[in-house]
Amino acid sequence: MAYLTTQGGQPVLILKEGTGRRRGREAQRNNITAARIIGEVLRSTLGPRGMDKMLIDSLGDITITNDGAAILEEVDVEHPAAKMITEVAKTQDDMVGDGTTTAVVLAGELLKRAEELLDQNIHPLIVVSGFRKGAQKAVETLNKVGTLVDVNDRSTLRKVALTSMGSKAVGAAKEIMADIAIDAVKQISEKRGDNWIADIDNIQITKKEGKSLFDSQLVKGIIIDKEVVHVGMPKKVTKAKIALLDCPLEVEKTEFSAEIRIKDPTQMQAFLDQETRMIQDMVNKIIGSGANVLFCQKGIDDMAQHFLAKKGVLSARRVKQSDMEKLSKATGARMVTNLEDLKLKDLGAAGVVEERKVGDDKMIFVENCKSPHSVAILIRAGLERMVDEAERAMNDALSVVSDVIENNRVVPGGGAIEAEIAKDVREHATTVGGREQLAIEAFAEALEIVPKTLAENAGLEPIDILVSLRAAHEKKKGAAMGVDVFTGKIVNMESSGVIEPMAVKEQAIKSATEASSMILRIDDVIAATKPKEGPGGAPPGGGEDEDY
Ligand SMILES: Nc1ncnc2c1ncn2[C@@H]1O[C@H](COP(=O)(O)OP(=O)(O)OP(=O)(O)O)[C@@H](O)[C@H]1O
Ligand SMILES: [Mg+2]
Repeated sequence: MAYLTTQGGQPVLILKEGTGRRRGREAQRNNITAARIIGEVLRSTLGPRGMDKMLIDSLGDITITNDGAAILEEVDVEHPAAKMITEVAKTQDDMVGDGTTTAVVLAGELLKRAEELLDQNIHPLIVVSGFRKGAQKAVETLNKVGTLVDVNDRSTLRKVALTSMGSKAVGAAKEIMADIAIDAVKQISEKRGDNWIADIDNIQITKKEGKSLFDSQLVKGIIIDKEVVHVGMPKKVTKAKIALLDCPLEVEKTEFSAEIRIKDPTQMQAFLDQETRMIQDMVNKIIGSGANVLFCQKGIDDMAQHFLAKKGVLSARRVKQSDMEKLSKATGARMVTNLEDLKLKDLGAAGVVEERKVGDDKMIFVENCKSPHSVAILIRAGLERMVDEAERAMNDALSVVSDVIENNRVVPGGGAIEAEIAKDVREHATTVGGREQLAIEAFAEALEIVPKTLAENAGLEPIDILVSLRAAHEKKKGAAMGVDVFTGKIVNMESSGVIEPMAVKEQAIKSATEASSMILRIDDVIAATKPKEGPGGAPPGGGEDEDY
């Protein structure tokens, strides 16, 4: 029970019965351990020689991936501090789309180093402040090392895309995927003022099993994973005028069961005729607007299909809301909820709308749209899980290309930038002095987890690599030296084409620092229900800090 004791020794109940409480070092240790474990879990996946994880959800569905954000999304984490770390991955994914593993591993390592300092009786706030100073210095180094990239420098964009896919199981198809990613992002990029905007939400990714990754393609338009609804309808319409409907083309059934008494057969016929007339009316409104293609988010009943087919309108039903929105954006059509409202000006335009066979299924391709910015990528691969991982790889490639187009700076990968930051931060620490110096130095060491892990995952001796790496960075022009995970040598990463967007590194360092600082500042955990004994949890029986 959660009591506080007054000075007179009178226990006062202030928290609800069953409330759990952990305080001081114990709370910190528990949080740090839980958060660190998340970093440890992801470590083995970092880099091109990192391994994948197989995740099985409660329904038995399997995901095989190397993507930090995807792994943490599938794993059901319960510990609140560990949850904060999973959010680091999510933020990283939302903001820059790559570097999720790096961010999480870094957060874990920062906490590990912090714990060592706490053990030396250094106050958590001094650690937090040291980390913040380290992160500031890191941003300076990023700006110092980061090189400018021209939006039209295709070869650099390609290297960035290839680096991001280096760790994903897409093998030789990387080259083709990198080209598709660059073409797609360039298509949707636009210049606003002095800045380029490349919002990859405008790129639609459609997946279909069958064939191979090499058959993936870029479509200048939209792909709708639906068939033309009636065999009698045309399979191809040029100069399409597209109507988007949000209401069903059916005679609505009432919610209550109604009874109609019919006395003679003619009444029955009249009743059916009335239904036909209503449907015909609806179809006439569509034809009247001038549409020759119809995408309906709801159902289209048999009779409506028949009438639409007779008039040569290519139609699809039960189209996903997200696809309807994309169609609206791409073709300029306005989504209409009430048929009465459908007018010529609501229709969208596309050069061609055509149903094509993709694998065993049929899909509708809407091409040469009104908006030149709409593109879709069709990903093909032999296995379902492969298609999924290829989609994640493609997403990473699209993200990094758009990061470079928007922020036009790149830094060397392979642990090079982290080693350079560590060097600069270490130098900076000596100018600070005192206990804070220790915290800043710890920050520098934590950053070296990236080259260390890359080496470890490649089966190299991490300590040896780190020693050679530090030596290489001490030399003039050594900033780009990193770990070649295939040969085990320290090489210039820019020359080997391993480069990454600066924005990815900056975001990873910032969010890892933020999350670890947040966890370090907590010294009291009050939970509505008693926390389960987690890793490094309280000894059975509870200590002084357990409950009052
Ligand atoms: N050819 C290479 N040689 C050395 N290091 C490489 C090479 N290609 C990529 N890397 C490094 O691998 C790291 C990225 O690994 P990975 O893609 O597995 O993780 P992430 O980008 O942090 O997270 P995720 O991709 O899961 O969101 C970066 O540090 C990058 O510089
Ligand atoms: Mg990556």
